[in-house]
Amino acid sequence: MRAWTDLDDFQTFIDEGGIVEPNDDMPDEFRQEVFRFVEFHANSELMGGLTERDWIPKAPGLRLKQIFLAKTQDEIGHAHLLYMVAADMGVKSRNQMIEELFSGKSRFHNVFHYQAVTWADQVAIAFLVDAAAFASQRAVFAECTYGPYKRVLKRIVAEEGFHLRHGEDMLMTLAEGSKLQHSMFQDALERWWWPAVQLFGPDSDPNDPLLKWKIKSERNETLRTAYIQKFVPLLQGYGFEIPDDELRYDDEAKKWVTSEIDWEPLKATMSNGGPDSRRRIADAATNWADTAWVRDALDAATINREAA
Ligand SMILES: [Fe+2]
Ligand SMILES: [Fe+2]
Repeated sequence: MRAWTDLDDFQTFIDEGGIVEPNDDMPDEFRQEVFRFVEFHANSELMGGLTERDWIPKAPGLRLKQIFLAKTQDEIGHAHLLYMVAADMGVKSRNQMIEELFSGKSRFHNVFHYQAVTWADQVAIAFLVDAAAFASQRAVFAECTYGPYKRVLKRIVAEEGFHLRHGEDMLMTLAEGSKLQHSMFQDALERWWWPAVQLFGPDSDPNDPLLKWKIKSERNETLRTAYIQKFVPLLQGYGFEIPDDELRYDDEAKKWVTSEIDWEPLKATMSNGGPDSRRRIADAATNWADTAWVRDALDAATINREAA
């Protein structure tokens, strides 16, 4: 077990490339910040996984159903791993985190507060949202000074890489398909472009402790700008229109510049007041309650085995 004399001593350790492990006597500020971040990530994986699950019966064809089954399993698996890492930090138990999520007390990523209206929305989620989530998770994995989080991220990032490729594959089907498929994706793009861009969050606070302690390796605005540079030409190349009248290419800076971002929709989702927040949380909570008998049976089986 390592211990540090004060925050300066801890900072030197971080700056020299140190990795913090759960048994270390880490500063409480670090514990709280990392816990909050991992809990948010875990909640987002779970809520994202439930969105994928909703589309298994509606996915067109057996092959896509199998893919959505596998993807749902991946996302729920990510949530499991992350809840384990979070619970080991000793701030909240796993049950407490789940209960707070389903009672609407906790936060999760903005993109899971919107409704997926058509199949094309699901493609937009796989193509745009998974890519945004992948970019931000990879940027955490690049440094990540909390050992257990870094180790589970290695697996999560690898699996998200597959999701990304699958999103590209589905997008190509719609982009190169019939006129109707093309216009369905255009409609979905209008619903998902801004939430995907906003997933990175507003510009990072210059004193963001997560950057200082190298949990995150990139500032929000750096990731957001890189995402826009990649996806604007990609979508335009497929013949889609970005829903932003003021979008322009700045010849001098050699980059795409969007109109000023309205952060109000993001803020609304962070207080669970997004367009579909209420239904999604209630749906997840009902499922949790309906499956209580499975958890109770497992608990009883464990107790009986221990008693034997
Ligand atoms: Fe995931
Ligand atoms: Fe994913």
